[in-house]
Amino acid sequence: MPQTIAVLDFGSQLTQVIARRIREAQVYSKIYHFSTTAAQLRADGVAGIILSGGPQSVYAKQAPHPDRAIFELGVPVLGICYGVQLMGHFLGGTVAHSKAREYGHGELTLTKKSPLFTGLPKRLRVWNSHGDKLTQLPPGFRAVGTTENSPFAAIEDTKRHFHGIQFHPEVFHTERGADMIRNFLLGVCGVKQEWTTKDFIAQSVEKIRAQVGKGRVLLGLSGGVDSSVAAALLHKAIGKQLTCVFVDNGLLRKGERAAVEKLYGDHFKIDLRVADASKLFLRRLKGVTEPEQKRKIIGRTFVEVFEKSLKSIKGSAEFLAQGTLYPDVIESVSIQGNPASLIKTHHNVGGLPARMKLKLVEPLRELFKDEVRRVGEALGLPKEVVWRQPFPGPGLGVRVMGDITEPKLEILRNADAVLQEEMMASGHYWKVWQSFCVFLPVQTVGVFGDERTYDYVIALRIVESTDAMTADWAKLPHEVLQKISSRITNEVRGVGRVVYDVSSKPPATIEWE
Ligand code: XMP
Repeated sequence: MPQTIAVLDFGSQLTQVIARRIREAQVYSKIYHFSTTAAQLRADGVAGIILSGGPQSVYAKQAPHPDRAIFELGVPVLGICYGVQLMGHFLGGTVAHSKAREYGHGELTLTKKSPLFTGLPKRLRVWNSHGDKLTQLPPGFRAVGTTENSPFAAIEDTKRHFHGIQFHPEVFHTERGADMIRNFLLGVCGVKQEWTTKDFIAQSVEKIRAQVGKGRVLLGLSGGVDSSVAAALLHKAIGKQLTCVFVDNGLLRKGERAAVEKLYGDHFKIDLRVADASKLFLRRLKGVTEPEQKRKIIGRTFVEVFEKSLKSIKGSAEFLAQGTLYPDVIESVSIQGNPASLIKTHHNVGGLPARMKLKLVEPLRELFKDEVRRVGEALGLPKEVVWRQPFPGPGLGVRVMGDITEPKLEILRNADAVLQEEMMASGHYWKVWQSFCVFLPVQTVGVFGDERTYDYVIALRIVESTDAMTADWAKLPHEVLQKISSRITNEVRGVGRVVYDVSSKPPATIEWE
């Protein structure tokens, strides 16, 4: 295992960003619950600790506090925002509630030389977001940087290798923030840069082989990034011991099944089984118009078909592989309470491994999405797979409004294929978060040649986003939209009108259902 930097999570939304910045510096990071004991951290051999920010005041009744003994482990500690207030609170300083929250840009002036700022200019723009602030330094500390509002914006105790900063180095608004984190890792903690894609692949291959032995592994392949990379990695590790199952639910895009068969079957020579259940899905969806009901039917049917096809090929299989990523396994600290109510049902196959007495293999469990992509590239997956846009599990089922029929799916597939071609040709496919067509069961009047037409409407949904939590409609050049529109109305029979969706999320969601 590479050396680990522990990020103690006190509930900041930026905790994961800190962990990612560490990995971008090619150092392995792991997010720990704030209450993790010092003994545990010692047992894990952590080489440094970062205390994350958090929304609370250190004096609040239910404020998350770390195990006091982490300050006696003898490993370097960097406190960020709430983290530096914790240091003040635990190590003998004082923290006061300031009336006004300090939020936004500030200017940091470095007043003394410090290992955290080696190689950086004396003045830097930084990003603040805090209510409380340190008003008196703990014994042994000195200030090395100030801002307009704080004489203690950056503090240190170099004897104990403790550093604290009031601002957020992990966000891009902080100038040279990545260098500060790198200085902490390499300069203060003295760790080596051992977390590289190449090392990860080599270590994973070993780990998978050790876990699986001579056993057989089954993997559900969706064609999405995560399962594709998991397939390629498993195949590299265990070759013929891997069998992949692809469910054709009849709600796929044009040519999708053929592309999966070509890449995994022909190119990688993976043992690929396709379960063709399109008729079953469409039969069960017949006449169903309510979005949640559609999702539930598709989800349930998927699990049923997947389980059945696993059973049929199970034989001696003992393992089920899943493309679980790190953000799915982090035990997130919900301090403010997160009332994210159910907006859309996403289906998964939870519970299935236990039911089928299969052990789980999760080769991507330690990776963030961008790391998964890098691994995919290194394993030789094509750009179209590694950088593909997200596609919902229920597929075109949630893109045909109203009841789903084969002729409507056919129109949608053809229109969507034109859209994707034009997005690729113009290069915009790679710049937006998602681009797709939605079928509207509304007939409108038009003229084609000399004839009156009465055809359906296709809506274009093209959005920009970084995490799908919020999104904005993409301001595509008019010429590109014009070409897409005229090609769809000319080439796709049954479509008489194309409209552009100019709604952002919120209040609209990205998918229409
Ligand atoms: P919404 O429509 O909620 O979508 O704004 C946010 C992101 O999630 C994708 N999406 C899904 N992905 N199963 C999935 O795996 C689903 O059921 C599902 N529904 C929406 C959507 O494409 C967008 O990227």
